[in-house]
Amino acid sequence: MSLKRKTRELIKRREQVISGGGEKAIKKQVAMGKLTARVRIQALLDKNSFHEYDLFVEHEARDFDMDKKVLHGDGVIIGTGTIYGAPVCIYAQDFTVAGGSLGLMHARKITKIMDHALKMRVPLIGINDSGGARIQEGVNSLAGYGEIFFRNTLSSGVIPQLSVILGPCAGGAVYSPALTDFVFVVENISKMFITGPSVIKTVLGEEISMEDLGGAKVHSEITGNAHFYSLSEEECFEQIKKLITFIPWNNTQKAKAFPPKKSKSEYKVEDIVPSDPRQPYDVRDVIRAIVDDSDFFEIQELFAANIVIGFGRLDGDTVGFVANQPKVLAGVLDCDSSDKAARFVRYCDAFNIPIVVFEDMPGYLPGVDQEHAGVIRHGAKVLYAFSEASVPKITIILRKAYGGGYIAMNSRHLRADFVFAWPSAEIAVMGPEGAANIIFRKEISGAEDPEEMRKIKVKEYKDKFANPYVAAAKGYIDSVIDPEETRNMLVHAIKISANKIDNRPAKKHGIPPF
Ligand code: HXC
Repeated sequence: MSLKRKTRELIKRREQVISGGGEKAIKKQVAMGKLTARVRIQALLDKNSFHEYDLFVEHEARDFDMDKKVLHGDGVIIGTGTIYGAPVCIYAQDFTVAGGSLGLMHARKITKIMDHALKMRVPLIGINDSGGARIQEGVNSLAGYGEIFFRNTLSSGVIPQLSVILGPCAGGAVYSPALTDFVFVVENISKMFITGPSVIKTVLGEEISMEDLGGAKVHSEITGNAHFYSLSEEECFEQIKKLITFIPWNNTQKAKAFPPKKSKSEYKVEDIVPSDPRQPYDVRDVIRAIVDDSDFFEIQELFAANIVIGFGRLDGDTVGFVANQPKVLAGVLDCDSSDKAARFVRYCDAFNIPIVVFEDMPGYLPGVDQEHAGVIRHGAKVLYAFSEASVPKITIILRKAYGGGYIAMNSRHLRADFVFAWPSAEIAVMGPEGAANIIFRKEISGAEDPEEMRKIKVKEYKDKFANPYVAAAKGYIDSVIDPEETRNMLVHAIKISANKIDNRPAKKHGIPPF
């Protein structure tokens, strides 16, 4: 056979595989409002950058009539490409082929591209759309998942790992996304759960829809499993592309620097924060007033909104922001917000991203619910993460820094490199009202007019401690700054910390309060 004929045959074979599960299955996929696996890859990657491997891999299952079935590409597409020129490895499960179910060869394709990503030190993107372990392949499917989980763990903190949930992700399959850095979900399309509605009905007798059990909103607002929520696949791909611009390819590099830009003039930092410490405001406006082009890329926006996390740039460099949100629960730390903040701090630390903290909070959330939910264990994660992080760490105290919150939010004592405070900062063991009620109890109750005495004592306490100067006199704060100086101070602090070296005692690893 001539080379020309052989090439024509190759093209025919390729076309056959590319047809996936066939016209009917593709129609069904589209009718569900979903793109097909191949279209997803094309939509996400730079034009013509995708290179596919293992196109001709076939399954080897023989039981349950599987020997009579042809599963094109074994239900998953793997390859490499670029996003804004940055190299990535990618896999996308093809639901049109046996429901994207994971058998031995399907898993081998995924682990092959995972191994490439780790070896080449480039980000890995996994698009999940699957009925889970291929039932006909028994333990081989389970083995496949185990191999994936092991690689997720091996790659953790070395290369960025992104999981995109664009269909069902059921059973133990959910643990691969859970082991990765960022999970993307889309309204009406993403479904994640360990046991599906039918099992729940059988075991517990409860009826629940897939959406209510583990839809996009559930994981974005309640469980915190998802980091990015969107209304369409197209919006989801835009989020992924944007994230890629903020993070480095691997843990030996820094994120790509962009041309510096000023923040937009509509955000004027001094006008955002009310002087009354009980008045709420949106701390994201403070971040927007500081970052380049006022472009703040928020992560887990809908989960534990009492803390805000995300990326922005300062003079072109990527920075990770952690900020108390006074407009939600006064910005307290509780179980969920502690988990959210601590994990993000560890992400930034692993990938050489400086951390900036904006602090304004009354401490940890009191109450039986929180105590019994483990606020000690969860809250300790914040202390651990900030203490452990050796990237440049800078804190700006905007208003309240009370009690454990003062320590936890990247204080000097946890080795912040720079701590700045606005003149409105109040640094104390607790709020003036609570403090006066405890230490002046006798004077207040014995006074002729206890209410008047309380006011006097609250003022006395406020004058003494509710300011930044006591902490500044001890050197716990490096500078009390004019709010308008904030951006300049931060830009300088980050530039000056670019070659920071922070040696820690050698150990295999610590034991964080997981
Ligand atoms: C083999 C599967 C499959 C699976 C779906 N298919 N899931 N084949 N193994 N796990 C096949 C179907 O037989 C069907 O094939 C095609 O994929 C499309 O599936 P439908 O059911 O027609 O699609 P839909 O109505 O959209 O329902 C999707 C679904 C449902 C909700 C995901 O298929 C489903 O419940 N599947 C089983 C989910 C599950 O319990 N998986 C195992 C989880 S346990 P045909 O040939 O008819 O087109 C697990 C353990 C992992 O994953 C442990 C790791 C530690």
